[in-house]
Amino acid sequence: MSKKRVLSGIQPSGKLHIGNLVGALQNWVRLQDEYECYYFIADWHALTSQYADTSMLKDYVQDVLVNCLAAGLDPEKATIFAQSRVIEHAELHVLLSMVTPLSWLERVPTFKEKQVEVKDRDLNTYGFLGYPLLQSADILIYRAHYVPVGVDQMPHLEITREIGRRFNNFYGEVFPEPEGLLTQFPKVVGTDGRKMSKTYDNCVFLSDSPKEVEQKIRTMTTDPQRIKRTDKGDPELSPVFHLHKIFSSKAEQDEVSEGCRTAGIGCIDCKKVLIKNLFTILEPIWEKREHYLKKPDELEDIITAGSKKAREAATETMHRVREVIGLESLI
Ligand code: TRP
Repeated sequence: MSKKRVLSGIQPSGKLHIGNLVGALQNWVRLQDEYECYYFIADWHALTSQYADTSMLKDYVQDVLVNCLAAGLDPEKATIFAQSRVIEHAELHVLLSMVTPLSWLERVPTFKEKQVEVKDRDLNTYGFLGYPLLQSADILIYRAHYVPVGVDQMPHLEITREIGRRFNNFYGEVFPEPEGLLTQFPKVVGTDGRKMSKTYDNCVFLSDSPKEVEQKIRTMTTDPQRIKRTDKGDPELSPVFHLHKIFSSKAEQDEVSEGCRTAGIGCIDCKKVLIKNLFTILEPIWEKREHYLKKPDELEDIITAGSKKAREAATETMHRVREVIGLESLI
């Protein structure tokens, strides 16, 4: 029995933070023993909204790769690659575009939402409209069974299934229907209590130093109604407690929660527990980051080998695709 295929991607649109770690990377690591995994850096996707200034692209791609490896992805187990190095994704994208009704793309919720949210860039482009279709090509080209993502990506998975079905109807069964594997922590709050996001400047980055992490947690907002040390607090109103739910043991959660409600502990005491737990998780990551950052050649070799392997799998599908459409050969 061959293993089922898993595929997922991450955009190099900024430095990765602890939300990406628990929302994506840790899941990816968990899956690599059980499935045939393909994980990639979606550099073309980053370009759909960051096309005007690409000066940071290379750094972000490197940051994603280093963090994937530091979080525990093993290039011997999983195929790790860059989207732009498997140009067959673009070929499938163009072929899928032939059968994709415009209205399907226009009604994807992220299309309008992001256009409203992003003010400093013009997202009225063909590339941005086609974002979900490029994602469909990413998934279908590996004939993936499972796609680990956050719930925000479910509309993209839905359109992927619809497009795969439509292609199969026109030309014959090529693509299986991929299923989403939802992550346990799709949203992590940032230091200000809003969703952790580089646009809000509220991230704890995996590339932050221990000092920076400590400083960011120490200055985090807490229950706004707990002003004096003697005030009783409500942990549910504190973003610090939200992070405890992800990074601390149940016993510690109960302890800080009780301490907060009774004013038994102060906010700094509570934050110290969180800092300790973050350090435990981040220390091995920091160590491995340092190792890889000193060895850019090793990084280049890993992405080159992974991209070559991914390309073999993608090429296999593309032969099928060209054949069923009638593009493969004249005889
Ligand atoms: N859109 C995804 C995100 O922002 C990234 C992505 C691109 C992706 N292609 C993919 C995820 C294919 C899963 C499968 O998170």
